Amino acid sequence: MSIRKIITAALPYANGPVHIGHLAGVYIPADVYARFQRRLGKDVAFICGSDEHGIPITIRAKKEGISPQDVVDKYHEIIKKSFLDLGISFDEYSRTSSKKHYETSQEFFKTLYEAGKFTEDISEQYFDEQAHEFLADRYIVGTCPNCKNENAYGDQCEKCGSTLSPSELINPKSMLSGNSPILKETKNWYLPLNDYEAFLQKWIIEGHKEDWKPNVYGQVKSWLNDGLKPRAMTRDLNWGIPVPLPDAEGKVLYVWFDAPIGYISFTQEWAEKNGKNWRDYWQNENSDLIHFIGKDNIVFHCIIFPSMMKAHGQYIMPKNVPAFEFLNLENDKISTSRNWAVWAHEYIADFPGQQDVLRYVLLSSAPETKDNNFTWKDFQTKNNSELVGIFGNFINRVAVLIHKYYKGIIPQGNTQSPELLEISNTAKEIASALEKFEFRNALSSLMNLARFGNQYLQNEEPWKTIKEQPEKAAQSLFVGAQLAAALAQLSEPFMPFSSEKLLSMFNIERMNWSILENNSVLIESGHRIKEASLLFSKIEDEVIAEQIQKLEQTKQNNKKTNPNAEAMKEEISFDDFAKIDLRTATILEAEKVEKADKLLKFKVDTGVDIRTVVSGVAQSFKPEELIGKQVMILLNLAPRKIRGIESQGMFLLTTKPDGKLSFVTPDETVENGIEIG
Ligand code: 2FM
Ligand code: ZN
Repeated sequence: MSIRKIITAALPYANGPVHIGHLAGVYIPADVYARFQRRLGKDVAFICGSDEHGIPITIRAKKEGISPQDVVDKYHEIIKKSFLDLGISFDEYSRTSSKKHYETSQEFFKTLYEAGKFTEDISEQYFDEQAHEFLADRYIVGTCPNCKNENAYGDQCEKCGSTLSPSELINPKSMLSGNSPILKETKNWYLPLNDYEAFLQKWIIEGHKEDWKPNVYGQVKSWLNDGLKPRAMTRDLNWGIPVPLPDAEGKVLYVWFDAPIGYISFTQEWAEKNGKNWRDYWQNENSDLIHFIGKDNIVFHCIIFPSMMKAHGQYIMPKNVPAFEFLNLENDKISTSRNWAVWAHEYIADFPGQQDVLRYVLLSSAPETKDNNFTWKDFQTKNNSELVGIFGNFINRVAVLIHKYYKGIIPQGNTQSPELLEISNTAKEIASALEKFEFRNALSSLMNLARFGNQYLQNEEPWKTIKEQPEKAAQSLFVGAQLAAALAQLSEPFMPFSSEKLLSMFNIERMNWSILENNSVLIESGHRIKEASLLFSKIEDEVIAEQIQKLEQTKQNNKKTNPNAEAMKEEISFDDFAKIDLRTATILEAEKVEKADKLLKFKVDTGVDIRTVVSGVAQSFKPEELIGKQVMILLNLAPRKIRGIESQGMFLLTTKPDGKLSFVTPDETVENGIEIG
């Protein structure tokens, strides 16, 4: 068993905030594992950072109308803060725009280049002549050859799901200019992955059948069965790390070349700050490298990055790559573009101080072996029945009774009681599950200990025995205190905030995991505990209804055929509508309102009377062009004074694409005063 653990969590793209899918499938399990390894006394480096290159960033920039730099600056901060708020205990959270990362990845590239590990190849790529840029696959749209969807991308058709290459698209167009791109020759550097097939076969297929997860092992096997091809490690793009070669102007490192090197450069940054040697973690057989990722990243972490490291020659291979499946939200795929997600930063704002509830719920439904589902109802149930009803309830009973009967001092008890074995057994069970990356089983073992505690108190009834059999009551609460102290210790990897509170409540220090596995007395008789405080509180129906309502709103927004359309206002009854008096009318006179740029004053024949209306249309029309125009007017709007003039009604107007206003008018001229409805 190695002393060192280098634990990495997939670098999130800094193109949006993190959501519960990311948390459940990568960051929370990785954090549990890192915390657990620290408790085992391992020398842990838990590394992550923002992935700031690649097409996802430039696409986001285009969408938000800001520069790629602004995108990454904005989301790096949001993501970093969410992780911190949720107790994700990275030793280093950096970003791929850091100077160290540029140096390390360029150096890595040069080492491979100088050792002759790349092949050069000239290929034809689509080029936008107007924008003067080669086009990434995502920047080309055209008709899908399979389903005839006219908006398929150069790498994928989102309608039929088929993987495409830009040359397969019918009638391709550049997303930058809308023009048809031309094919132009360009040189790039390739890593011949086919040269690493034998190595990968031996290392993974022969060596890790037993200890890697079947989903990971299976995917690698199928890639290898299909045969690997050389893969370009450089791209013709203007966003990324420049290729460090003289004849590579306008080219950057492929984002999947630079991003995983981020794990190394961030370890270097951390090591420099902490007086460590990064090579002890990355280039020493006495270190275990573990990558936590989502299933869409398997090929990069099991084939491409290991081949890069093998080509380099000085790196250890990952010991395991626990990849998770996906988490759905309310039975629908989580999607950033459809805003179908529970965002970490919004959760933190909506549920202050309840980070452990989210950690608990996401771990208990972690998509370990198959896709899983998050629902707000389930979130509420798990909080109310498990965290409040079992875990919190047990702790509270123990602490309150010890204060009530023994003034907060742990009573005398038999240290050999058989119930105490539950503690060491649970510690062992959790450890064994976590070593196998079975987070849900580990969490169940923890909760079972709380369940056991509750049942034990229920059977012992110290509140009854305290009068007639005080020794028995003392024994019950001595055991209760040990179980509570064990929960304080064992819950730390899963629910670090609650664990911290518990340690303080029982006035004890954090212990190494091996002590928990080998001892059953964790808190001595005579030890004084502090006041009991509530760990978890009930989540009411209204709170859950609000979250469900938020998702409903998203669903409504997603139905829009025009993304710029405002959401529908609150529904009104027919009676409400009937109160509105809309009529046809004709403008008789129009003139400017003095010292008001936007206003015109009108005299209007409404059929009912002749009245004055002031309207903010001066920037869209000259007064004279409106005389004689038939319009629609809201007749029974209460009169209001505008610039000292009483306006007696309101015209129906709409806005044109250029921002100018236009009058809503009948198709044909009709009499004035005709009702509209
Ligand atoms: O899929 C993603 O979100 C990528 N940004 C993950 C990168 S992991 C690593 F290799 F850096
Ligand atoms: Zn298609």
